[in-house]
Amino acid sequence: MTDPVVDPVLAAIRRRRVTRAMTDEPVAREQVETILEAARWAPTAGNRHLQRFVATTHPGTLRVLRMVSPGMIARPTAAITVCVDRGLAANYGFRPETPGPWIDVGTATATILLAAQAVGLGAGPVSSFSRAAVGVALDLPEGWSPELIVGLGHPAPQQPGAMTPGRRVTWQDLTRWVPEG
Ligand SMILES: Cc1cc2nc3c(=O)[nH]c(=O)nc-3n(C[C@H](O)[C@H](O)[C@H](O)COP(=O)(O)O)c2cc1C
Repeated sequence: MTDPVVDPVLAAIRRRRVTRAMTDEPVAREQVETILEAARWAPTAGNRHLQRFVATTHPGTLRVLRMVSPGMIARPTAAITVCVDRGLAANYGFRPETPGPWIDVGTATATILLAAQAVGLGAGPVSSFSRAAVGVALDLPEGWSPELIVGLGHPAPQQPGAMTPGRRVTWQDLTRWVPEG
């Protein structure tokens, strides 16, 4: 097995943790742009790029996002909301129940989390929010559905403990070989 201490990508994957306490220090727009540039390289179903990103460093907008997002424990100084352009998805022939566009949200989010770490920021995905209220707060265009908000900020020195403390799952816990053995 390749040693994660030696390989920088594996090391970054291993090091990344959700940040749930952030300082007031602003995030530079350039940092957000670097993250967005990384996100566009995430793989997408049929290479259709049905995700849309809504970025903000605006304190008032961030305050409203926090108010309508019970899952947002941190006070991020920037956020990227990952949306699906449902109109575009329908135009490409994706049926509403086809999972591809949601999986795209996942690949983009994983990329955003790692890119945030690479530019020295902490990041945390949030799925617990009012979609209707986020749509209004971000003035989302018709057909864009907000699926995940990634809060970004400078990590505070003290972080809350893990959401579900206990033993970390191993890859063996998650994996079944076929054929067995
Ligand atoms: C789809 C998705 C939704 C999540 N929603 C929230 C959320 O609403 N609030 C939150 O604090 N963390 C949220 N998380 C972060 C997970 O709780 C976190 O990844 C998990 O506790 C493991 O922590 P780690 O990533 O630091 O290893 C979400 C993660 C994913 C992938």
